[in-house]
Amino acid sequence: MGTVREIGSFELLQSFATIVIFGATGDLAQRMLFPSLYNLDADGLLGTEVRIHGAARSKLDDAAFRDQVAAALDSHLPEGQLDATVKARFLDRLGYCTVDVDTPADFECLAAKIGPAKGAGVAFYLSTPPSLFAPVVAGLKAVGLTGPATRVAMEKPIGHDLPSSREVNAAVAHGFDEDQVFRVDHYLGKETVQNLLVLRFGNMLFEPLWNSQGIEHVQITVAETVGLEGRVSYYDGVGSLSDMVQNHMLQLLALVAMEPPASYTATAVRDEKVKVLRSLRPLDAATANTHSVKGQYRSGAVDGKPVAGYADELGKASDTETFVAVKAHLDNWRWKGVPFYLRTGKRLPMRHSEILIQFKPVPHSIFSGRGPGLEANCLLIRLQPNEGMSLSIMTKEPGLDRGGVALREVELDVSLTAAFAGQRRRIAYERLLLDLMEGDTTLFVRADEIEAAWTWVDSIHDAWTSAGVIVKPYTAGTWGPSASMGMIERDGASWHEGAQ
Ligand code: BG6
Repeated sequence: MGTVREIGSFELLQSFATIVIFGATGDLAQRMLFPSLYNLDADGLLGTEVRIHGAARSKLDDAAFRDQVAAALDSHLPEGQLDATVKARFLDRLGYCTVDVDTPADFECLAAKIGPAKGAGVAFYLSTPPSLFAPVVAGLKAVGLTGPATRVAMEKPIGHDLPSSREVNAAVAHGFDEDQVFRVDHYLGKETVQNLLVLRFGNMLFEPLWNSQGIEHVQITVAETVGLEGRVSYYDGVGSLSDMVQNHMLQLLALVAMEPPASYTATAVRDEKVKVLRSLRPLDAATANTHSVKGQYRSGAVDGKPVAGYADELGKASDTETFVAVKAHLDNWRWKGVPFYLRTGKRLPMRHSEILIQFKPVPHSIFSGRGPGLEANCLLIRLQPNEGMSLSIMTKEPGLDRGGVALREVELDVSLTAAFAGQRRRIAYERLLLDLMEGDTTLFVRADEIEAAWTWVDSIHDAWTSAGVIVKPYTAGTWGPSASMGMIERDGASWHEGAQ
């Protein structure tokens, strides 16, 4: 069997020796998965026995596949990160098998290629369109490639609504038990996202105030400058709500809002996250317009360059949203009455993901007199690209205070980029692939989380349909439709739009 690693004093993880990547010739595999596996190899984290097989429909032999991966490493790893010896060793681990899901013999061929190494554990990574998840699992099962020494990882989306996500989960369950299923949300592989748990549960400072007594509202923004560039055929009809909110943004919300888990283990963490997702108050026709806004970019300029509108890129009119803002509520004891404003969009003015925690004001101000009054504290957690956090606090301006104490807001600003300068930031997939090989599901999404997230997202889609909500245009390079500002400003707040 592969190597065994001890985590804490009680959990033994089994490191698998074979990885099979379905969709190996696709964009994600070439851009992220192979460069990540290379980096793990370079750091000595892949045992000598580890073999990596690509599987896809293209007819390639091992040598042609290795050439393709070599080219992918050249173009997707930063200069200076490629070492000729490691590269040769890495390419040597690779093999390829043509697999068409409709051809049972192809799975036989894959089984033969893996051979006796199956006993040392095989992890299948499905980097394929979701329509292939069920047939791939069925194909693997038919040739005995499921069972105790196997695992399966899969990319989002898991379905496109609650019923279809249940179908996918059920089809996968025919071949794999839940603890063998690794549903990838690459945001959970990001350092700063994992750091949310450390910030909250590794410091005494915040948790006593982390509730409706201390917090006025929370904002979660994931802003992108990219447009659809070649992805329109996937994206049209999907939209931001399903593409970003159902997964990444709700995972962020769950990490911000969850109760403290008893330990940093898969069951404890995911039990708490799913409770949050199940507390999301559904939207309905009455709240569709007051609690959500959907938008679509028109032509404009991003980073000083003119860019086309979504419909121009698509070549026809569409009501798919490329921007969404939602005011969410969690109906539970801790978060009663605290709005969570979520906002994400393409072709916004800058790429940044951040979480803003707006604390409540002090109950009574003892200061009166000159200058601005007391501002409530605010914690800004910057997830990317400029990782860090800043906490605004009130201070006294130096002076003799003849006209009353002058107050000034200053920032306690921590740059994680600076604090950990010199430490390479890993690709999110490095962490996730290593966890997959070692069998740790903590940073993967459980079936019940997926289903709870779809339940809420479905309520929004249904609310949009019944209230006849249509996409509002916004100019590329702006912060989305003005209705999104209106939504939060009606509550007396405003979106944080600081430059990073
Ligand atoms: C993907 C979405 O899951 O996440 C994309 O499908 C989006 O539309 C991407 O661009 C954003 O990821 P990141 O890591 O660049 O923030």
